Amino acid sequence: MKPLNRASILKWQKLLNTVYNTIKRTKLGLWVVCTIILVLFYIIFKQWEKESYLPPNYDVSEFKPLQPEVTEDFPTTFGESPRIPHIIHQTYKDTLIPHKFVRYVKTFAKYNPNWKYYFWTDESARKLIAERHPDFLSTWDNYRSGLNKADALRYIVLYEFGGIYADIDVENMRSLDRATMKYTCIFPPEPLEQAILRLRLHYLINNAIMMCRPKHPFLKQMISALPHFRPMADPIDLAGPSFVTSQFLLYNNITGDQYSSEKEPGTDSSPYFYSGSLSSAHENGVYVPNTRYFLDTLDTHEPGPRMYQKMCTNSLEKLPLYQQRACADLQRRGIHRQSSKYVFTIHNWSQTYTKQEGLDHLSEPGPVDIHLIVPHAEIY
Ligand SMILES: *[C@@H]1O[C@H](CO)[C@@H](O)[C@H](O)[C@H]1NC(C)=O
Ligand SMILES: *[C@@H]1O[C@H](CO)[C@@H](O)[C@H](O)[C@H]1NC(C)=O
Repeated sequence: MKPLNRASILKWQKLLNTVYNTIKRTKLGLWVVCTIILVLFYIIFKQWEKESYLPPNYDVSEFKPLQPEVTEDFPTTFGESPRIPHIIHQTYKDTLIPHKFVRYVKTFAKYNPNWKYYFWTDESARKLIAERHPDFLSTWDNYRSGLNKADALRYIVLYEFGGIYADIDVENMRSLDRATMKYTCIFPPEPLEQAILRLRLHYLINNAIMMCRPKHPFLKQMISALPHFRPMADPIDLAGPSFVTSQFLLYNNITGDQYSSEKEPGTDSSPYFYSGSLSSAHENGVYVPNTRYFLDTLDTHEPGPRMYQKMCTNSLEKLPLYQQRACADLQRRGIHRQSSKYVFTIHNWSQTYTKQEGLDHLSEPGPVDIHLIVPHAEIY
């Protein structure tokens, strides 16, 4: 390369001077510096926000998952009649469904057009109870929260008619026929990480979605136990998930030690925990499926996610093993997880009853009558 001569050096100097003066005049430099700072902040923030549920020196593979990966569709049998009748039950205080739930309710009629559809209101629920469970009526009337009534009602309608019960913030993703063949009663658990990290329970059977044959003895036991149940902590859960879980343990003769124990590796994809000695496909059995099929989404309302992150990353080594495994599962799948291709239902965790008086519905279109959503809806 030939050495730069004096003329070209001068030319370069002039150019640099012009650029420098332009920057100075237009305060461009200030803008550049500000942009760089903003970009740095953004990167740091993204890094901080990135979901991480294990300290950096841990590897997820050190922890056994709480349930197997789902590689197959839901267990079923072919060529026999269903063991759980094809009836959908949903409920609300009256027949006017808040607008934000309309699209969820529609999905059940869409994917199960040949199923019966029962819609339960406070009024028709009370009528059913007065007729068929008069002993329970005073407990029912004394429930102070609509939530308690809605919880209790679902066991009664499943006991009387059988079928599937789903909250109105549950979205149906495909036909439910397949789920009604092999088992007589199916109670999906909450996402395990949620029960384990938020409530410090080994698992919690949920009641936002469940299905059962009529007159199943588990339902019968629950209905008789309702008037006597005293919740350990939250009075809102007089008849909800902690009630169902304690009844499940009782029904299956599961002791305190067994509750926290792991089952023998199973032949299907159900979760890690011991769920009693009765075969889950038995006439009187209760099957607790892998969360991937019915209830896999996490409730992302705070303080959940932030709390999990703090517990897992700040004090992992102090946590008991089942909680460490929950942290690893969160690390594997994240808070906003991808649904399995075999998913039947997705729960939105809208807290249908506790949030219904909130302000957010004021800006929404008005409620819609159930008969406009599901024309063949029957009201008892
Ligand atoms: C629980 O134990 C009782 C008494 O031994 C027995 O009759 C019942 O069948 C058991 N229930 C289950 C679900 O195993
Ligand atoms: C529930 O629905 C809202 C509004 O459509 C959505 O933003 C949110 O992600 C949903 N949550 C879950 C767990 O599906």
